[in-house]
Amino acid sequence: MPSIFQKKPLSVLLQEANDEKRLRRVLGPWSLTALGIGCIIGAGIFVVTGMVARDITGPALIASFLVAGLACVFAAMCCAEFASLAPVAGSAYTYAYASLGEIWAWIIGWDLVLEYSVAAASVANAWSGHVHDLMAIAGLKLPQVLMNTPFAVDPSTGHLVSTGCWLDILALGITLALSVILVLGIKESARFNGLMVFIKVAVVLFVIIAGIPYINPENWKPFAPFGWGGISIFGKLVWGQVSTHGSPVGMMAGAAVLFFAFIGFDSVSTHAEEARNPQRDVPIGIITSLVVATLLYVGVAAVLTGIVPHDQIPEKAAIAAIFASKGLPWARVLVDIGAVVGITSVLMVLLLSQPRVLFAMARDGLLPQGFFGAVHSRFRTPYKSTILTAIVVGIMSSVIPLKILSELVNIGTLLAFVIVCVSIPVMRYTHPDAKRAFRVPGSPVIPILGVLTCLVLMFSLQAGNWYRLIIWLIIGMVVYFTYGRKHSHMNKTSVPLED
Ligand code: ALA
Repeated sequence: MPSIFQKKPLSVLLQEANDEKRLRRVLGPWSLTALGIGCIIGAGIFVVTGMVARDITGPALIASFLVAGLACVFAAMCCAEFASLAPVAGSAYTYAYASLGEIWAWIIGWDLVLEYSVAAASVANAWSGHVHDLMAIAGLKLPQVLMNTPFAVDPSTGHLVSTGCWLDILALGITLALSVILVLGIKESARFNGLMVFIKVAVVLFVIIAGIPYINPENWKPFAPFGWGGISIFGKLVWGQVSTHGSPVGMMAGAAVLFFAFIGFDSVSTHAEEARNPQRDVPIGIITSLVVATLLYVGVAAVLTGIVPHDQIPEKAAIAAIFASKGLPWARVLVDIGAVVGITSVLMVLLLSQPRVLFAMARDGLLPQGFFGAVHSRFRTPYKSTILTAIVVGIMSSVIPLKILSELVNIGTLLAFVIVCVSIPVMRYTHPDAKRAFRVPGSPVIPILGVLTCLVLMFSLQAGNWYRLIIWLIIGMVVYFTYGRKHSHMNKTSVPLED
């Protein structure tokens, strides 16, 4: 039986990109950048940031964004080199298959389910929270039993408590509605996304520009009231302080949580097969969207922590609420609308990316091809897996609390980035002459820095996340050894393929 480390030859990847059943090549650099921004800016900045500033970092939030952004820049460069080398659907999964071998590819593909589907579920959940807020301002209210997940995490104890509700109907509804658009076509989805990106970037710029006159630099002193650290290994603090509840606080701990706000830039590479000029435009899309998001985040962080002392930042909808506290209630509505639109586009791109990873895995035989590899004859979209993704995400988002969902996302994504960063020097060694439209400058230094920064952020997360990740990976191994390994096309090839 061939090795579980069997690699997929680059020549096969490139051939697949040109094969008949491929997806439609309609995306240019602007659409790709917009898809990146569409997936990045959302619940992280509108929901998570206020909580981090108040309880974990204080004004050092600005530095936390820079650190998380830096880790992403290293990983983004590695994703970009790979996308320019092998412009096919599947992103990090495909890269690992070509460089490290099948088992690593499987791990990363399985892990990307955590990134895309679980992130989509947590974002749908956050979306519903903002829509409820807007409805409340308009005096509207759904029946109580349809407003929330059946359980929620009690922040004071960390335990699950009953909410008395049946399900979060809005989270389920938005997920299913967006999936209809996604089945209809990538071009239609990209157009809709472009409009949403325009609105949310305008709202974020508004927050920065309208907020600047209210900044009082005294609020930035002390800059790091919780310290600069917050790194613990499996629950044992190695640098920094812990909160009264025992969780790490400080600039690094904040960076690990805020990493959520950057998740999504790599989704650009899942669309490589739908790009008109993937070798050039996918790296442009990945890096531009990340840089734009980082600049906007740092701007919002400066405004948020400059307007009010960090311990007075409201717990919920912080950005909208601080405008209301400055006597600008209309600005609150505007920010709420921006948040709803922004989160909608994140959700859409996440729901778009997941089926494309499953599509790539099915094409290799690691998942049932008849289902996950099916492309709609008219719309040319992986419609069956899009519908399945929508159903699973819809159910998760309507019954599992946001806190549990969002915690799983960061660690899964960071692990995927570690593997991508390792893949770059490996590919440079095994395929030195392959054509690369984009090369990571200074390899292997940048990929090594990428691995180290992602690992540090993984260790800055609470121990429970590691245990959940390990359980998820064990389930993945069971699926791989009972299905994937037996059906893998690479493993069925009797003559070893060479590049
Ligand atoms: N980065 C995405 C967000 O903040 C997941 O909503």
